[in-house]
Amino acid sequence: MSTIEQTNQYIMPTYGRSDLVIHDGSGATCHDEAGRTYIDFGSGIGTTSLGYCNAAWADAVCAQVRTVQHTSNLFYHAPQAQLAERLCSMAGYAKLFFGNSGAEANECAIKLARKYSFDKYGKGRSTILTLVNSFHGRTIATLSATGQDVFHNYFFPFVEDFRFVRANDIADLHEKLDDTVCAVMIEYVQGEGGVMALDKDFVQEIRRVCDERDILMIADEVQTGIGRTGYLFAGEHFGIRADVTTAAKGLGGGLPIGVCLASEKCADVLGKGAHGSTFGGNPVVCAGALAVLDTLAAPGMLESIREKSRTLRERLAAVDEVEAVSGLGLMVGISLKTKKAPDVLKSCLDKGLLVLTAKDRVRLLPPLTITPEELQRGADILCNVLEG
Ligand SMILES: Cc1ncc(COP(=O)(O)O)c(C=O)c1O
Repeated sequence: MSTIEQTNQYIMPTYGRSDLVIHDGSGATCHDEAGRTYIDFGSGIGTTSLGYCNAAWADAVCAQVRTVQHTSNLFYHAPQAQLAERLCSMAGYAKLFFGNSGAEANECAIKLARKYSFDKYGKGRSTILTLVNSFHGRTIATLSATGQDVFHNYFFPFVEDFRFVRANDIADLHEKLDDTVCAVMIEYVQGEGGVMALDKDFVQEIRRVCDERDILMIADEVQTGIGRTGYLFAGEHFGIRADVTTAAKGLGGGLPIGVCLASEKCADVLGKGAHGSTFGGNPVVCAGALAVLDTLAAPGMLESIREKSRTLRERLAAVDEVEAVSGLGLMVGISLKTKKAPDVLKSCLDKGLLVLTAKDRVRLLPPLTITPEELQRGADILCNVLEG
């Protein structure tokens, strides 16, 4: 049986997959089982931030596998402690919690916000405002937090007390804010929702009202974080630091990790027994994440991401078929005049380029380490498809 046949026979059909079996990769380039080459502008949906099998990352992961692969969180280990210290100090947070995915990081943020409010104000302050068109994950709580009706089917009952505000609508924000609200949770750039960056004045107004009312501002940086937009966290574009920031995807460089970072005022809300995860902060995953952060902290790295973003965006904006280029940094959305995003994805695949879609847009999340040559080769294919 082929890999595709085995997959289709034995794995629940929850994904819309392309007919490509990825066999191996290096940098932003991968090969299928027949040895055909592809430039990858998707990075496993923003996870392989250093590309395929980055040498420093692979060395760190392999060395850790051979030292100790798991300890449980009933003991201590150095990679977890070092990663926590590094992340908190780089991002300006007091403490963090480790999980294994973006959804888990957001679950932690939701629990933290509700308990922060309960501890200070008692019952009746459990509402979390999120945005229409948001995406926060696939668990029941994070689906409930997701502001898209299409996700609110079948799995009833959903978790109560999420309320959805129209993105960039300050009047709607004020209307939905009442004394039951304990948190406002946003993505600075709605990724799955179509690569839409929020307006600066809207984000700043959220920060202001959260401060005014002692409501926690939660930034879901699962997709935007860890260098993706050209800064460690996308909040920097808005001059904002949320009280709680979640990250996942690119942090692990391709291994499963999720993190919920908390500022001083809410760092100790989740005490002993209030939360946990068997695999959270696993040594191998933490060793890989430390290699990712080392790479991002290297002089000029974040600037090089911004530079590559400018090059790619200028190139795309010059294509006639392109209506608009959205997003920030190397999180790129492309709206099209006449073509359909799934058709563009298919044509790119046929020509040796992997791209993503989000809503009706083509979406690009190339590895942060992509070389200018790989970027150009990929852009050549994409522009060729768009112009064809
Ligand atoms: C903004 C955002 N939050 C949460 C998630 C869920 O992350 P995971 O699939 O790792 O649970 C995603 C995934 O795409 C995301 O983009």
